[in-house]
Amino acid sequence: MNSVTSYIDQNRSRYQSQLCDWLRIPSISTDSKYKADVARAAEFVAGDLRSSGLRVEICPTPGHPIVYAEWLNAPGQPTILVYGHYDVQPPDPLDQWVTGPFEPTERNGNIYARGATDDKGQAFTHVKSVEAWLKTEGKLPINVKFLIEGEEECGSTNLDNFIRANKERLRCDYVVISDCSQFEPGLPAITYGLRGLAYFEVFLYGPKQDLHSGMFGGAVANPANNLASIIAALHDSNRRVQLPGFYDDVIPLKDWERKEFAGLPFDESGFKNFVGLETLVGEQGYTTMEHKSARPTCDVNGLTSGYQGEGAKTIIPARASAKISFRLVPNMDPAKIAASLRKFVQSRLLPGVRCEIKEHGLSPAALVAVESPGVQAAVRAIETGFGKKPVFVREGGSIPVVGTFKRELGVDTLLLGWGQNDDNLHSPNEKFSLADFHRGIRASACLWQELVQG
Ligand code: BES
Ligand code: MN
Ligand code: MN
Repeated sequence: MNSVTSYIDQNRSRYQSQLCDWLRIPSISTDSKYKADVARAAEFVAGDLRSSGLRVEICPTPGHPIVYAEWLNAPGQPTILVYGHYDVQPPDPLDQWVTGPFEPTERNGNIYARGATDDKGQAFTHVKSVEAWLKTEGKLPINVKFLIEGEEECGSTNLDNFIRANKERLRCDYVVISDCSQFEPGLPAITYGLRGLAYFEVFLYGPKQDLHSGMFGGAVANPANNLASIIAALHDSNRRVQLPGFYDDVIPLKDWERKEFAGLPFDESGFKNFVGLETLVGEQGYTTMEHKSARPTCDVNGLTSGYQGEGAKTIIPARASAKISFRLVPNMDPAKIAASLRKFVQSRLLPGVRCEIKEHGLSPAALVAVESPGVQAAVRAIETGFGKKPVFVREGGSIPVVGTFKRELGVDTLLLGWGQNDDNLHSPNEKFSLADFHRGIRASACLWQELVQG
């Protein structure tokens, strides 16, 4: 193990420059213009795993390819499946990046690039820790499989089918995912809960074309007005979501959880500072920490109707649409939320207005048991790699595949986030701390040792 750690320290700058090579590939999965780049990003990580000595396959799908790799020469020892994604979010708005999103640049100990933390940088820690073991010891203390997909940021359309079709090949004792965050700089975390996501696009159609609002206004239903009133009705004045049945299945936060949350060193004024707001909002009766990670929410993510150009144009728009998503907490059923939203919208349509609702993905929340030997091994590995015992947190983001792994393979996931909350994922100037990258590799290398049985 000592030689593994020294190898990781000695190869620190090569590891960084390899990560930068990967980050230079604009693997934007949602935009078909980048299909060839997405494929190149898959080949990059596949090639890297292959040169470490793993058996690697690039599995085509109707969308972007899935990289599968394995090293299974530790008979009698546990098998770990590392999941990650090599695709990234679109980088816009481009003018807000200090340096180009696909020109990885080092500044104040961070590497800035789209995908730096979400998820190339974090996924790469496991790729590199496995290399360190294989190049020094010639073997790993446990069995490792990698599943690195290219469609996470656009809904993982083909992943569930792949998992269902390859259950035997993917069989494992634990899944390991590094695609979330530490609690704060210097305080690593193990995430035991993630929210789910139910995402919809609501289209309202009014008159057959845009109309003069002076000649027709007052007599003709305006779909933009109608949509605005529907959206307004989604919350009451206490910030409670008003969809009938929304909270019915929610498991209330346990006392111990609320105590744990309250005991974490959450810096509320730093948080306000980061978002650029002096005041926050949130469901009455809960703290900010609870609002943003353990309570269900409803948010409009995009809203469009009518004239968007400069100056005034007097019209009644023919249509209006909104992208509306709900973050879900454990035990909420996304299908029930979908049915409730359909009724909610339908019953509020003005005469003459018609609606269509498109679903953009329904995934339930995830909750991971914290008492397992795998979690205990992760606690020890993180303590060694980061020099500090991790705290246990629930995070507000979603990694839908965690639920799929539980359902299809019957396994729990160890959610070991190496990122920071201010890493700007999905935002301009995404970054990843190079110290966290290095510590993540060390913790990962220790994890393989800590998982050894007998
Ligand atoms: N890595 C994120 C999820 C995440 C971020 C979890 C921070 C916890 C903390 C992932 O790539 C992501 O962006 N997920 C999407 C959901 C997906 C269905 C598009 C999300 O949470 O919006
Ligand atoms: Mn991610
Ligand atoms: Mn993401």
